[in-house]
Amino acid sequence: MLVLGIESSCDETAAAVIKDGKRILSSVISSQIELHKPFGGVVPELASREHLEKIEPIVREALSKAEVSVKDIDAVAVTQGPGLIGSLLVGVCYAKALAFALDVPFIGVNHIEGHLYSVVFENPPVEYPALALIVSGGHTNLFFVPEEGVYKVVSRTRDDAAGEAFDKVAKMLGLGYPGGPVIEKLAREGDKTKVKFPIAKISDGRPDFSFSGLKTAVSRYVRENQIEPAAEAKTANQAIKDVAASFQATVIKSLVVTMEKLTRELAPKTLIVAGGVACNGALREAVESLGAKSGLPVYFPSKHLSTDNAAMIAAAGYFHLRRGARSDLQMTADVTMRLQNFENEDADLKRKKVRYRL
Ligand code: KG4
Ligand code: ZN
Repeated sequence: MLVLGIESSCDETAAAVIKDGKRILSSVISSQIELHKPFGGVVPELASREHLEKIEPIVREALSKAEVSVKDIDAVAVTQGPGLIGSLLVGVCYAKALAFALDVPFIGVNHIEGHLYSVVFENPPVEYPALALIVSGGHTNLFFVPEEGVYKVVSRTRDDAAGEAFDKVAKMLGLGYPGGPVIEKLAREGDKTKVKFPIAKISDGRPDFSFSGLKTAVSRYVRENQIEPAAEAKTANQAIKDVAASFQATVIKSLVVTMEKLTRELAPKTLIVAGGVACNGALREAVESLGAKSGLPVYFPSKHLSTDNAAMIAAAGYFHLRRGARSDLQMTADVTMRLQNFENEDADLKRKKVRYRL
């Protein structure tokens, strides 16, 4: 079964052709990083216009790289939410029109569920229950996954996502956008023990994350120590490298300490880390060592599947399509779509969610 996946929730226009949910025939991504760079973050209006320009050529390229004709496509899967409304609508409208014209089923996919499915291509099958950390520019959640397709949020961020904190701290230090890759690079040359940044404690005792306080602490440290932002990443001095290393170590510690606590409580059989921040080598090492300590396998997507892509959307869509789930033409973008309320899913999954009291 060939599924065409389409992703346009934020600043990547992507299309992919996937065979039987696991084999990537093509995965094409057009990144808007250069377009948004001068603004230090994604400008929603510019993003949707760019998606509109790119979607048609990107889908064509995905089909031609997969060496298939559009008529060979058996189903279309598209990111329905969460994301930026204008951006999501471009993908959703395009997917609907294409599925209608081809007379094939189509399905709206939750972007976060897509990130979870990014591990299916290059790892052994996931053994459930699993504990999955989805960590990106827009999301930071830990999900307990008792069986495939059933999700319970066991920890979430109360404010900024971890990737967003990387981006904001990079901006503060004059390192440009996106912040994750450049902070990771500079952190390798910095001393992570140089600055003791605090890890937020949530007063109601829930195992949630918070990164806004850390961002403020970095800002205060930079001001009090008169650290000048770099003119560009290449010229960053030792003080900036030490801040980058200390900040990165604090984010990772906060994520991994919580993951460790919930691993003890929930006894999963597999650990999963996905989303843009999963590109980070130091985070990978920290979760690998948690896995080794707990005797659990850790599954990551490879780097090109960690950031936004359409292969993961097609894979998640395939799971639902195979079970008979379909979206209809009334389906529209859902900016705040939650994994627990996946409206397109089949009756069996709905029953399971009731059983797990989700
Ligand atoms: O998954 P993604 O492409 O988009 C969202 O769904 O948000 O994630 C993008 C985020 C950005 O915030 C970026 O700074 C972060 O992932 N990121 C990283 C690294 N590479 C990308 N964060 C830390 N270390 C990295 N190497
Ligand atoms: Zn994403």
